[in-house]
Amino acid sequence: MSEKAVLVTGACGEIGQALVQHLAQRGGFRIVTADLAALPETIRPLSSEHVQGDLVNKVKTFYDYDFDIIFHLAASLSSKAEISTEEAHRINVEGTMQLLMLAAYRSEKYKKQVKFLFPSSIAAYGFDNLEAKHAAGRVKEETCNTPHTMYGCNKLYCEKLGMYYSRYNGQRHLDPQPPVMCDFRAIRFPGLISAFTLPSGGTSDYGPDMLHAAAQGQPYACFVRPDSRISFMAMPDAIQALLMLADAPREKLSHVVYNIASFSLTAGEFRQRALQAFPSAQITFQPNPRRQGIVDSWPEDVDDSLARLEWHWKPVYDVDKFFDEYFIPEIKKRYRHPNRRTNE
Ligand code: SER
Repeated sequence: MSEKAVLVTGACGEIGQALVQHLAQRGGFRIVTADLAALPETIRPLSSEHVQGDLVNKVKTFYDYDFDIIFHLAASLSSKAEISTEEAHRINVEGTMQLLMLAAYRSEKYKKQVKFLFPSSIAAYGFDNLEAKHAAGRVKEETCNTPHTMYGCNKLYCEKLGMYYSRYNGQRHLDPQPPVMCDFRAIRFPGLISAFTLPSGGTSDYGPDMLHAAAQGQPYACFVRPDSRISFMAMPDAIQALLMLADAPREKLSHVVYNIASFSLTAGEFRQRALQAFPSAQITFQPNPRRQGIVDSWPEDVDDSLARLEWHWKPVYDVDKFFDEYFIPEIKKRYRHPNRRTNE
């Protein structure tokens, strides 16, 4: 069987690094990576080619590549995006638009659907106050699509662009012989936690930051209140979800955007878990009003029944398994051997 050509943008990010490792382990892929930064040593040998630089200016480079799948992970995350809104919009929207146009062009010209996998986010939802958040509980994809952040607006709009380019491009779906369009699929991820990499620029970062600090014996001041609740997920489950959705037969998918969930936890519960594993951890709470506001606008949990039904999504790690079998053992090894190569 011939290799599939895959593009992973944002390859140096947390999802990117873990995904490249999984694709390489699975085999059968020629992996091209793109990022603003040079690849970390841990994944450098796994990439057949790395395109370094601003994606918006680099997309034209990719018009000659015969990609079967594009994992477009490059993004400016929610807290960072609030500080530089225009730049975030350029990265998050313009970069996605450029790549979607490329996928649409190649699908039509070569009559072969390019798959386009897009990580959306719980930031696509938005609640005006805590009462509304609590009342909503586990939200379904089509509800409460009123994001409060630039990042959330960007993600929601890009979901719509993906639907446009994969279904209605130029209204040519109405032609007697409609062109082959790209195959866009998106997952709304909860806060992701890796034992091997640290997030930056996000608002769900307090979860992983708190645990990484505890494991290193460093004090941590959490920037949200202890009662703040959103959903989280182990990085290996997030990667598994991306690969499962990429593999799902198109005819089984009634939607282009899917929630996935594994566990929902408050910041206070995170602290308890951190203290169980690292009893001397020093974790305090110093809420930052703006970041608190973002977390308060996000759902407590999401309803992922559509993904479970249509592409058999099911997380491996519930909250106990996440801490006991993934995060705590791996992070203890990591900080005992800080130079250990990552391995999701
Ligand atoms: N983890 C992301 C953030 O905090 C949300 O998708 O920005």
